[in-house]
This record gives sequence, structure tokens and C-alpha cells, in this order.
Amino acid sequence: MNKIFAFCNQKGGVGKTTTTLNLGTALAIMGHRSLIIDADPQANTTSGIGVDVTSIKNSIYNIITGECEAVQAVVKTSVDQLFIIPANQDLIGAEVELASAIGREFVLREACSGLKDEFDFILIDCPPSLGLLTLNALVLSDAIVIPLQCEYYALEGLSQLMRTFQLVKERLNRKLEIGGVILTMADFRTNLTQQVIDDVRKHFTNNVLQSVIPRSVKISEAPSFGKPVVIYDPSSKGAQAYFNAAREFSERNASSERKVTPKTDFSKSAEEISPVSKSESLESMQSTGSDSVKVGEERGEENAVSR
Ligand SMILES: Nc1ncnc2c1ncn2[C@@H]1O[C@H](COP(=O)(O)OP(=O)(O)OP(=O)(O)O)[C@@H](O)[C@H]1O
Ligand SMILES: [Mg+2]
Repeated sequence: MNKIFAFCNQKGGVGKTTTTLNLGTALAIMGHRSLIIDADPQANTTSGIGVDVTSIKNSIYNIITGECEAVQAVVKTSVDQLFIIPANQDLIGAEVELASAIGREFVLREACSGLKDEFDFILIDCPPSLGLLTLNALVLSDAIVIPLQCEYYALEGLSQLMRTFQLVKERLNRKLEIGGVILTMADFRTNLTQQVIDDVRKHFTNNVLQSVIPRSVKISEAPSFGKPVVIYDPSSKGAQAYFNAAREFSERNASSERKVTPKTDFSKSAEEISPVSKSESLESMQSTGSDSVKVGEERGEENAVSR
């Protein structure tokens, strides 16, 4: 049973963030309680879901430094069933702080494994490196998901990534599996794209998701509206490809065991998608009692995020 997934590739710009964001959102729209953890100091996932990075009180950084509990950093997004642990630039300092921590590869696991009981899927967006943040994400996860861009150099650097995966599996996290490879930014007009798809399928066999994400203007412009494309333009080709990928993903990882028993009831505050300012923290819901929570009422509170 896989449940926590690290979206990982040390190569930059291959679609990690776009994929984490859109798969997470699509899974939530399909009714799965989903949490996205932004583990990248660039904080693109955080801004891509419409959370203002300057107004975050508790972030992944505060979890790593022990300044807050993981549950205190969970923020409800404007998408029903979708939650995020945001990041901001503070996270740049985390690698340095982790370097001197005892059990430095296990910090996130110790802090966040309790969240497993709250969500059907937890997706972690990793930075483009194989540093301590990525290692912490892999140690926390049940599976690695590898986004690969359909380009000539797609497989370059993969041996290093797979070596890291093996080392983590052997020494730090025996249960870690390959949860899937997802091909992104495909330009079906070119022979190269088909060649890359064939090569990757040969290499990773049935670990590769059938749904290939096309290169799409809608996908690239969606973040500037603080929305994943599956919300920004759900009927576009890119969004449909992500919905298909999410269906595959949930089927691959479906299990009769995986009935979550959340301690926190979020469902009472379900709201319509957008405006994005209507976000609130899990912490405030817990303290208020979810029945009485009106989304947006806590906007002025310290933990509420706004756009
Ligand atoms: N299918 C697509 N079609 C068009 N543009 C895309 C597509 N997927 C991603 N992009 C764009 O490509 C850029 C890189 O994507 P993204 O940020 O998801 O990659 P990343 O692997 O997370 O990058 P980094 O390594 O910097 O974290 C972004 O500007 C994004 O909007
Ligand atoms: Mg990214």
C-alpha cells in the first residue's frame, strides 16, 4: 500500500511541481483527501495553488526546525479535500540546519508520519537536487514518482537518481518503491517525443503511466492565476491528461486497506473552488471545531493565508 509519494528528479524544470500540483488537485476532485507538501524553497507549488507565500505562518521549514507540529502547518486550500503544507524562502536555510542535525535524514519522517492517518494521498514536491531535503522526502515516502520530460536528455541523470533511490531503500527506508514514472511536456508532432516515450517504457516497463502529459500553453499559464490547470481549464488537453493520470495513479495505489480514519473533520467546510483567498489552517479548524467553521472567517487570523 503506497500512500506518501515523493515527486523527485534532480533535473530542473522537468515538471515535478506541475505534476505534483495537478495530480494532487485531480485526486482531491475525485474525492480523495489529499495533502501536498511543498519541499522546495522555490515554493512554486505553494504559489501555484494560490497561497501567498509572504503570509504563511507555519511552513515545512518550521516543521523541520521543530518550531511547530506538522499538523499546525497544514493549510486547507480552496479546493475541497485538498490541503497543503506550504513552503517559503526560509526553506533555503533548511539544508544547512539539517546538515548538523542528529538523524538528519529522518527529521521529516519523525515529524510528519502522523499525517498518514489523515489523508488518502500525500504528495511531496521535491527540489531539483539530491540534497538533504530530497533525502528527507524519500525517507518519509512509500514511493518515488519520477516526472520525466519528453526531450533528448530525458534519461540523463537517471542513473544517479536510481542509485540514490537504491541507497535510500537499502539503508534508510526499506519500504520505498517506485510508484511510477510520468512523462511530461510531450510534443506529439515530433519523432523525438515518440522515441523518448519508447525508450522510457523499455527502461521502466509497466512503471510508466499510460497517460502522457502534452506540452500545453494552458498548463504553463495556469500558475500565474494561482491555479493548477485541472481547475484553470479542466476541459483542456493538458488538464484531461492529468485527470487520466490521476485515475491511473489512484487505481495503481487502490487498496482495501486504505480507509483513512482522519481525526480531523474537514468536510463540513467544503467550499467552491476559488477565490483562492478562502484558505484556512487545519490548526484553526481543530481549535474552533469544524462544524462551526465558516471558511474565510479566520482570514484575519495569524494562520490564515490569503492571496
Ligand atoms: N506540460 C507542460 N506544458 C507546458 N509547460 C509546462 C508543462 N509542464 C510544465 N510546464 C512549465 O515548465 C516549467 C517547469 O515546470 P515545473 O516547474 O513543473 O518543473 P520542476 O521540475 O518542478 O522545476 P524545478 O526543478 O525548478 O522545481 C514551468 O514554467 C511550467 O509551467
Ligand atoms: Mg519544482
